[in-house]
Amino acid sequence: MDCSVIILAAGQGKRMKSELPKVLHPILGCAMLSYVLHAVNEISPERIIVVIGRGAERVKEAFPLDQIEYVLQREQLGTGHATMCAYEALKDFSGTIVILNGDFPLIRPETLKGFIETHRRSGGTISLLTTVLDNPGGYGRVIRGKGGDVTRVVEEKDATAKEKEIKEINSGMYCVESGFLWKALREIGRNNEQGEYYLPDIVEIAVEGGKKVLGHTIADSEEVLGVNNRAELASVERIIRRRANEGLMLSGVTIVDPEVTYISPQTSIGADTIIYPNTFIYGNTTIGNGCHIGPSVWIEDSEIGNEVTIKFSSYITKAVIEDKVAIGPFAHIRPDAQILAGARIGNFVEIKKSKIGRGSKVPHLSYVGDGVLGERVNIGAGTITCNYDGFHKYETVIEDDVFIGSDTMLVAPVRVGKGATTGAGSTITRDVPPGTLAIGRAKQVIIEGWKRKPREKKRDE
Ligand code: UD1
Ligand code: CA
Repeated sequence: MDCSVIILAAGQGKRMKSELPKVLHPILGCAMLSYVLHAVNEISPERIIVVIGRGAERVKEAFPLDQIEYVLQREQLGTGHATMCAYEALKDFSGTIVILNGDFPLIRPETLKGFIETHRRSGGTISLLTTVLDNPGGYGRVIRGKGGDVTRVVEEKDATAKEKEIKEINSGMYCVESGFLWKALREIGRNNEQGEYYLPDIVEIAVEGGKKVLGHTIADSEEVLGVNNRAELASVERIIRRRANEGLMLSGVTIVDPEVTYISPQTSIGADTIIYPNTFIYGNTTIGNGCHIGPSVWIEDSEIGNEVTIKFSSYITKAVIEDKVAIGPFAHIRPDAQILAGARIGNFVEIKKSKIGRGSKVPHLSYVGDGVLGERVNIGAGTITCNYDGFHKYETVIEDDVFIGSDTMLVAPVRVGKGATTGAGSTITRDVPPGTLAIGRAKQVIIEGWKRKPREKKRDE
């Protein structure tokens, strides 16, 4: 759409009582601002200006995107002042400027689009997105004149008792024609309870100048809920979660208890997958069809194939898991793990930066780090790849059809050739040729006629 967008994100977020800039507080693992940016991206504006101030560097780092231009508001003097900070960047742009707060992550792209279209059709100078709340506390109230036209917005802190009874609120989203915006912003003062330059004051300026102001009221008030404190953060999270879960369920995913299942909106999950309670699926994760996930599983930034089972209390980050793999319970699959089709990772197993070949098994109590396992490898219980000497990490290569005996220590770098076997309890420090048996442990000694001291005697001593 041919418009430009200003996102106000410089505020201190005082009520969050946090070191972290408000717009970076995570909701289902993604910064609050990402939800607003997502909605804004969907309308493809000409320019996107984000006004930053508090924690500016952190915000920039979190979203180093080409399509975003950042401008700095050095001192947080209010939303009007913040908008003015975008002047230099946008002074040559002529047309509709959409201004929105960075702290309302529930806005849907369709709503944004509809709002801009209505503004265009109205031919007005300002449009204000409003809604009616049962409990409007904290928001700016929309004052309408006799004919029902919007005449001004009054902040809660400046409102009279009578004005506080008004239930129609300012969402913090506006369409303003550029020619008027910059002029009006120069006119607003800070003669109010908070001593700030209020952006909504441009409404009164427009009305006084005989310009048309439209209050566009939306019925779904949920969409414009702002986040000012952590209680509101939790309410908003619940709504985003419910929307994401509903979308998945309608597309064929079973979520046993959506109230206690936390799936970020970017996740895609195939049909006939079942997600058990208390499971978290965050980041850029894709999950195929017919999987069984959970209960109490954490998956982040991972790619999971079809018919995969991930059992109780497994923790998976930045991993690739192919079709028909079984994992857990209690498995830890760390970044750059690649578990190929049909492999099995059992309980109390940690896999880091390793490839586990097709049909291979690491069923119990093992650590595989920097390993490359071929196909049909069996790793006995208690096996460890000793990959770190305190300075560097080294690779362990285990070729196809190897049988690693229980409690084998594989001191990397080391290679176990195709079809080889290691004896239980071995410490393998040298390469094992294909088809051989390697045993690296002290030989068992039998001492004949050995008698333990009787217990009574020991007590007498
Ligand atoms: C604002 C509106 C209020 C509206 C509400 C909707 C004003 C004066 N009031 O109030 O009418 O009902 O949003 O949620 O605009 N910001 C800056 N720089 C500043 C101050 C704020 O960038 O100097 C940013 C904040 O980061 C935030 C947004 O502007 O993203 C809104 O600021 P906030 O302080 O939350 O305004 P509200 O009091 O909620
Ligand atoms: Ca706010």
